[in-house]
Amino acid sequence: MSERYSRPMLGLHWLIVLLLVVQYFSSEGPSHAHRAIARGMQPEAFDIFLANIHVWTGVSVLVLTVIRFAVRYFGGVPAEAAGLTAWEARLSKIGHYALYGLLVIVPASGMAAAWISDAAGGPHELLTNLLWLVAGLHIAAALWHYVVRRDTVLSRMVPWIKPLNG
Ligand code: HEM
Repeated sequence: MSERYSRPMLGLHWLIVLLLVVQYFSSEGPSHAHRAIARGMQPEAFDIFLANIHVWTGVSVLVLTVIRFAVRYFGGVPAEAAGLTAWEARLSKIGHYALYGLLVIVPASGMAAAWISDAAGGPHELLTNLLWLVAGLHIAAALWHYVVRRDTVLSRMVPWIKPLNG
């Protein structure tokens, strides 16, 4: 089995990361627009613009995540990086499944908040914070592998960066 992720898996990982950055910077739009509507005021045009970006990038994250599941299922992923201890391998699997779960449930709860009921807004915000927390740990783990363990983990997903020991 290959040591690296396939091009489609690499592309989907980084496209979804990019969309999540857009999600982060557009997230004030929907909350400002909702607050204005709740006070009986007309939302600012810029907040409506940001809210539309936020909703449609969220829908795209969900669709791309479903495509990513299919690519993963049919195309597979590399065997775990060489040299991982059993607990590292287990922890990384748990982390990846948690991220996949959140990549479905965060956009789904956002769609529920936008189109079904305001009541989904609180859970959406809570789950989003959990996503940032797990993604932060994931990024820290990738950097730890690169700088401290000096193994191949980071270069599996960032092929243009070579491991420090090789
Ligand atoms: C600068 C940011 C990021 C870096 C450097 C990074 C790095 C990596 C690396 C090195 C792997 C491969 C791990 C391995 O082979 O054991 C990976 C996999 C993964 N990453 Fe990231 N990542 C980043 C951001 C994110 C974000 C924001 C998410 C989602 C919220 C995410 C979701 C995933 C998932 C689900 C996998 C597992 C892929 C699979 O095996 O199916 N990553 N990432």
